[in-house]
Amino acid sequence: MAYLCRYSFSKQPNTVEEKIIDESRQGEYFMAPDPSGVRPTTGRKLLLESYGCQMNFSDSEIVASILAGEGYSTTRDPEEADLVLLNTCAIRDNAEQRIRGRLDYLRSIKRRKPHLTVGVLGCMAERLREKLLEEEKLVDLVVGPDAYRDLPNLINRVEDGQKAVNVLLSREETYAEIAPLRLDTNGVTAFISIMRGCDNMCSFCVVPFTRGRERSRDPESIVREAQQLFEAGYREVTLLGQNVDSYKWKGGNQDGDILVNFAQLLEKVARVHPRLRVRFSTSHPKDMTDEVLHTMARHDNICKYIHLPVQSGNSDVLKRMNRGYSRGWYLDRIAAIRRIMPTCAISTDIITGFCGETEEEHQDTLSLMNEVQYDMAFMFKYSERPKTLAERKFEDDVPEEVKGRRLQQVIEAQMKSAAQRTKLYVGYDQEVLIEGTSKKSQEHFQGRNTQNVVVVFPKQEGLKPGDYVRVHTYGCTSVTLLGEYVATVS
Ligand code: 5AD
Ligand code: SF4
Repeated sequence: MAYLCRYSFSKQPNTVEEKIIDESRQGEYFMAPDPSGVRPTTGRKLLLESYGCQMNFSDSEIVASILAGEGYSTTRDPEEADLVLLNTCAIRDNAEQRIRGRLDYLRSIKRRKPHLTVGVLGCMAERLREKLLEEEKLVDLVVGPDAYRDLPNLINRVEDGQKAVNVLLSREETYAEIAPLRLDTNGVTAFISIMRGCDNMCSFCVVPFTRGRERSRDPESIVREAQQLFEAGYREVTLLGQNVDSYKWKGGNQDGDILVNFAQLLEKVARVHPRLRVRFSTSHPKDMTDEVLHTMARHDNICKYIHLPVQSGNSDVLKRMNRGYSRGWYLDRIAAIRRIMPTCAISTDIITGFCGETEEEHQDTLSLMNEVQYDMAFMFKYSERPKTLAERKFEDDVPEEVKGRRLQQVIEAQMKSAAQRTKLYVGYDQEVLIEGTSKKSQEHFQGRNTQNVVVVFPKQEGLKPGDYVRVHTYGCTSVTLLGEYVATVS
């Protein structure tokens, strides 16, 4: 999942205007109509910012929906806001430091505007709980990821002069019937959250503590959401979960038999419409079945792209990480993908400098990267997180500069591999879903091929975002394909 993203959004009465700020989308603004036509406003203004993974983006759309129902209109200007909510990430220490920095900035505003309410939502709220109120005196509201329905009530409490905290984790909450207010609205691509929480307990990871036990959402509500998105003009959905391969619907009965597994859910969503592209994230190497791969292969509209985090290329490190697979098992899953879908793109997550990682173990990660040739990777230095298995069992003993040097080597290996992979598509026709105007040129459209590679080509009369086109690629940068329009695909 793409981490370290952030957005805020601002809504005039009946419109949502949002700002996306991350490495890839710096400074873009999108407008979205109020899907219900007219939304009552109370004159109160909300600034909602989201940090971290796609799941947080998706959760912010639930929060926005709940608060729009309470009459909030939104702004991206903290000076104008009555309520500022930060939907936070706790995955690495630097994610939390960024949020502390933002709170420092808000403190200066609150000095001038004492009635400003500041709330912390999401994983950092869940991790620090009441402690956050002690540490960050300006925070009025602390709300964990399973307590968003309680927001109106908690905000009322703050307005009555109290501080408010709800960090209860749930075994059932999936927000299944709340229609998300789409914030990342290029009007073409949208996220659908299919499950919450994680039961895996990877030893480095704080997520099981901040997002609680794994639970799957009713498949009917997922399919309905996909249908509604298609009818509203969207042409791509990304099904989100911490480990989508362990999606299981048991008809609301936790002890019952599995009625729908992930492969079957994927099939149901793919059947919504052949022109609705389906993506998903994140897959887990220990759980990804051939059934999922065959389902992908059967449906042209399920994109040929799998995010399969490896974390390390060494079996002993994987054991210490409690990942539940070895290097050999992982490479077997890669072989299965290549066998069943030879054109499928593969991306990964890698951590360098995990507890006790030796130079040889690190070399195994480099050799695995060389063997797999990833299309894309998110790469991190290990960051010890309180309460995790690794924090309790192992010493964080790889010096910071060694972690950094290894990360640099991993990044260099990935840059080489990505450049090679992108070149493979040059000289062929690609089916591209147009997402909007290119970031670099008003005269060009940008979209993606099924492998998730960005394709840029000159705009043509009559084409618009959401159209599928055939593009002949003639060149590339390291991660972007350049092409010419060939035909519209109906
Ligand atoms: N330190 C560094 N990276 C981490 N990740 C998760 N926890 C940590 C941590 N403590 C990375 C993993 C995961 C991705 C979402 O974030 O690579 O797959
Ligand atoms: Fe964290 Fe592992 Fe769950 Fe992913 S699968 S969220 S890394 S515990």
